[in-house]
Amino acid sequence: MRSPIPDYLAEALESVEADNSGETADYIPELAAANPERLAVALCTEDGRLYSQGGVDVAFSIQSISKPFVYALALADRGFDEVMEKVSVEPSGDPFNEISFEEGTGRPLNPMVNAGAITTHTLAGPRDATPPERASRIIDGLSAFAGRRLQIDENVYESEISTAYRNRALANMLRANGMIDDEPLDAVTGYTRQCALLVTVEDLALMAATLANGGVNPVTEVPVVPARVVRQVLSVMATCGMYDGSGHWMTEVGVPAKSGVAGGLIGALPGQAGIATFSPRLDSHGNSVRGVDLFRRFTTDMGMHLMEVPPPGPSVVRGRRLVGDGDNAVQVVSLQGGIRFSGAERVLRELEDDPLTQKSVAISLMRVATVGPVARRMLLEAVRRLTLDGHDVYLIDPDGVLHDPDPGDGGRVTVVSSYDDLADLRKAEP
Ligand code: DON
Repeated sequence: MRSPIPDYLAEALESVEADNSGETADYIPELAAANPERLAVALCTEDGRLYSQGGVDVAFSIQSISKPFVYALALADRGFDEVMEKVSVEPSGDPFNEISFEEGTGRPLNPMVNAGAITTHTLAGPRDATPPERASRIIDGLSAFAGRRLQIDENVYESEISTAYRNRALANMLRANGMIDDEPLDAVTGYTRQCALLVTVEDLALMAATLANGGVNPVTEVPVVPARVVRQVLSVMATCGMYDGSGHWMTEVGVPAKSGVAGGLIGALPGQAGIATFSPRLDSHGNSVRGVDLFRRFTTDMGMHLMEVPPPGPSVVRGRRLVGDGDNAVQVVSLQGGIRFSGAERVLRELEDDPLTQKSVAISLMRVATVGPVARRMLLEAVRRLTLDGHDVYLIDPDGVLHDPDPGDGGRVTVVSSYDDLADLRKAEP
């Protein structure tokens, strides 16, 4: 069978093709001259399968889509405290290039607006890095997100730096406020070069998929940044990634996202996929018009909104059965699916409302795909309490989904791989 996903993506592109509203970015001459008809989309799953349609080979400058990735590098390299001291995480409600700072501290409001991004640029790499060393760290880091070596478009860089008066003003203010230690011109130069890195939609989809996959590039399998950093970056993308359009974006589309003035747009759906679109005409917020439309469509068609999560359902507890007979009988509670807090709560509730009656009891995880960290603690506590209630407790866990099953003080559990192993063990027990 041929997967319908490429057809779906092609059809989605067709549905927005006729819309020629918006304008290419006019403040960077090289971008103003871009072919406004370009259109492409790519989707990369969290395990690295890439689907793409349209002008997938067209390279364009990453622009502000570099911001969340450089923020991630800064957090990974300098730690949360140092970065938070210099850049807050509050939505500004302002355009991307607004000259605004937090009252009282002089910090930029968030790392997605230019003031914040110029600051986080200076925080990538070690504290004593020179501007060229930092530039290398950023190219290496963004290349690791993309899974291939990225290059700077020198024409785009020259074109932007020659008119970057507003960003220079921001950098001077940042230096005056004590937020950057660099010479302001070095900071703007480095930031502008970072924005001039060339990418395709496929690169961007893979970069977004690396965020969706907890910081590990799903194709190269290289861990790029820690999962805790990814949580921070995705949260900031969700609240600030679309600038003064972020509230509408989050309510309507519901995916952490970032746009760039060359016409790129990414969305990272945690645990599922990274998506990227490219279409150069922009709306008044500097976001790609057709890109925003495509994402609106994807969120409906693919059920991507983060606030729409299917309930775990009552079915985490699949059923109970008695295995063996007489003194060897074991009462087995079978669980299924992926178990997080609310699923584990169902298990605890079931064990409380309808107590197990046999002395020997087992919890079968044979049909359980994943147990989240909180659910793991809850299930181990159930094991401990069952032991304290006088039961002999077994876990049937052939795939080790409940890793390191230590139930703690007073708890005892025997782990087996199958019903047969359980029966054999019971027979062998005195
Ligand atoms: O700093 C600038 O103005 C550009 N290099 C990047 C701005 C940008 O991409 C805004 N996003 N939509």
